[in-house]
Amino acid sequence: MMHLKSQDEIERIRDSCRIAADAMALMVDLVAPGITTAELDEVADAYIRQQGAVASALNYRGYPRSICTSINEVVVHGIPGTRRLANGDIISVDIAVKNAGYHGDMNVSFGVGDIDPETARLLATTKEGLEIGLRTSEPAARLGDVGHQIQTHIEAAGFSVVRDYCGHGIGRNFHEEPQLLHFGTSGTGRRLQPGVVFTIEPMVNAGVADVRVLEDEWTAVTADGMRSAQFEHTIAVTESGPDVLSRFHDLPF
Ligand code: MF3
Ligand code: CO
Repeated sequence: MMHLKSQDEIERIRDSCRIAADAMALMVDLVAPGITTAELDEVADAYIRQQGAVASALNYRGYPRSICTSINEVVVHGIPGTRRLANGDIISVDIAVKNAGYHGDMNVSFGVGDIDPETARLLATTKEGLEIGLRTSEPAARLGDVGHQIQTHIEAAGFSVVRDYCGHGIGRNFHEEPQLLHFGTSGTGRRLQPGVVFTIEPMVNAGVADVRVLEDEWTAVTADGMRSAQFEHTIAVTESGPDVLSRFHDLPF
């Protein structure tokens, strides 16, 4: 069963997203050649705690840090550490927050310094894929419609959609039903309805879609070593259409 959220619950999820988005705004200022991913984690974690909230990722199934920092060929779940960002890198920063019993989740990919045009195209296409998914999430659309629209856009650009990780329902739990695949067939899957709250978080690879998980049991990298990007928002389906709970008009995501 998919739990349908009341407007009050949706506002609580939006509050958690606001904290995540404000932490992400701090990342915008910090992401530059020379900073370590552990430093990004410390700043985000301190900000979240200052708000009286906690990072959803911390200790989630044993995850050791508060945010995920996935550089270049890292697809998802990169663990912050001593690695320093270098000019030309890309980094996806995933920030999820639990506040007053509800989670909010978002992810932004950044270019570090000057990135090459093909990498810029990868970032732009991934963001467009997310935006198309958000727009498609109308009441009465099916999950497969959303996945299909995202996949079509990504593949038309010559990139591939990661199959091993998906978007997810979110609320009192960090991950709940439904699962949202970022690929699929129109007209299939569960119908969306007002009160469904979930994330859309396409991971897009410059080369093959296949991933492999490193010995730390978290870090997922592309099988071919090529780059990967990700963007994520938390969204509520409402009578009047998609309400992007992690988007705030004073912020650039
Ligand atoms: N947004 C990612 C997800 O929903 C964040 C994962 S946090 C981790 O899966 F703890 F699982 F790494
Ligand atoms: Co997520």
